Amino acid sequence: MSLQPEIVNEMILNRRSVFQQQYSGEPVNDAIVWQMLQNANWAPTHKLTEPWRFVVFTGDGLKTLADFQASLYKQVTEKDGSYREERYQNLLTKPMLSSHIVAVCMKRDEKKTVPEIEEIGAVFCAIENMYLTATGYGVGGYLSTGGITYFEEAKEFFGLSKEDKLIGFFHVGIPKNSLPEGRRKPVEEKVKWVN
Ligand SMILES: Cc1cc2nc3c(=O)[nH]c(=O)nc-3n(C[C@H](O)[C@H](O)[C@H](O)COP(=O)(O)O)c2cc1C
Repeated sequence: MSLQPEIVNEMILNRRSVFQQQYSGEPVNDAIVWQMLQNANWAPTHKLTEPWRFVVFTGDGLKTLADFQASLYKQVTEKDGSYREERYQNLLTKPMLSSHIVAVCMKRDEKKTVPEIEEIGAVFCAIENMYLTATGYGVGGYLSTGGITYFEEAKEFFGLSKEDKLIGFFHVGIPKNSLPEGRRKPVEEKVKWVN
C-alpha cells in the first residue's frame, strides 16, 4: 500500500457542501452511496461501539420521507405556535431535489460504554468520510440539521429509541455546476503550539 498525502490534502481542500438547488436531478448510482456508507463505517470509534446507523431514502422513498417530515413538522409546531407555511412546503417538496437522502443516526449502546459526546463525535467522523467519498466520486452532498432533526417525536420513524439521536440528513446529488471556492480563516489563528 502506498498512500499519497497530496491526494488526501487535495480531497480535503476540495470538499464542499453542495445543496439541493445545485443538483442536476440526475440519479447518483446506488453503488456510490454504498461506498460512502462503507467508508462511513470505518470512522474512528472509541471502544468499537460503532454507533452510526443509516436510513437511505431514494426513489419513492424520498416522497415517504417528505410526507413524514412535513406532517410531523405541522403536528408539532401547530401545538407550540411556531408553524410556518413556507417551512412546511419546503419539507414537503425539497427532498425530491436530491438523488438520495441518508438519515444519519447515533445508536447509544446499552451499556453506555463511552460518554455520549464520543458517540456523537464518532458519527460526525463518519459523516466526514461520507463527504470525502462524495468528493472523490465528483458527487455533491451536504449535511442538513434543519427540519425535524431534533424533534423527539421523529425518532421512532428512523428506528431509534429515546437514548438514540437523529444527527442529520446527508443529501446526495450530481452537481450542476463547478463548486464554489471554500472559505476558512487561517488555522494559525486557531492553534496554540506548545514546545
Ligand atoms: C453539524 C453541521 C450541521 C449542518 N447543518 C446544515 C443545515 O442545516 N443547513 C445547511 O444549509 N447546511 C448545513 N451544514 C453545512 C454547512 O452549511 C457547510 O458545511 C458550511 O457552509 C461550510 O461549507 P463547506 O462544507 O462547503 O466547507 C451543516 C454542517 C455541519 C458540520
